[in-house]
Amino acid sequence: MNLWDERYSQSGYAYGTEPSQFLVEQINWLNLKSPLSILSLGEGEGRNAVYLATLGHHVHAVDGSAVALLKAQDLAASRDVRIETQLTDLSNFVIEKRYNIAVMIFCSGSVIQDT
Ligand SMILES: C[S@@+](CC[C@H](N)C(=O)[O-])C[C@H]1O[C@@H](n2cnc3c(N)ncnc32)[C@H](O)[C@@H]1O
Repeated sequence: MNLWDERYSQSGYAYGTEPSQFLVEQINWLNLKSPLSILSLGEGEGRNAVYLATLGHHVHAVDGSAVALLKAQDLAASRDVRIETQLTDLSNFVIEKRYNIAVMIFCSGSVIQDT
């Protein structure tokens, strides 16, 4: 359990279930052809990964909160899409070359410490 887990343990979705408006605008502007392989760093509870998956992309969502990623999988199931999730500390995460693009929304990165 870390501070992010505690935040996400509250009922509901801390940042909602709708995607970041900035992400939506950028994706529309890029006019990407799906399916792409997209890495989402610091994904949280899934709102952005699920949005990208609904567009037909393969999304690998990583975050340091296990609680957040479980909720991300719940959100994906509720929207009838699949996302790949991975619990990881970004400070140790090595980005593989398999992705077409990477997104990082509202995440400056912080030290993940057990409470
Ligand atoms: C403000 S939230 C934003 C979540 C999501 N990007 C969104 O827009 O809804 C920041 C997220 O970054 C994650 N995070 C922060 N530092 C991290 C680190 N060092 N490693 C992994 N995840 C981290 C937190 O767990 C949290 O889910």
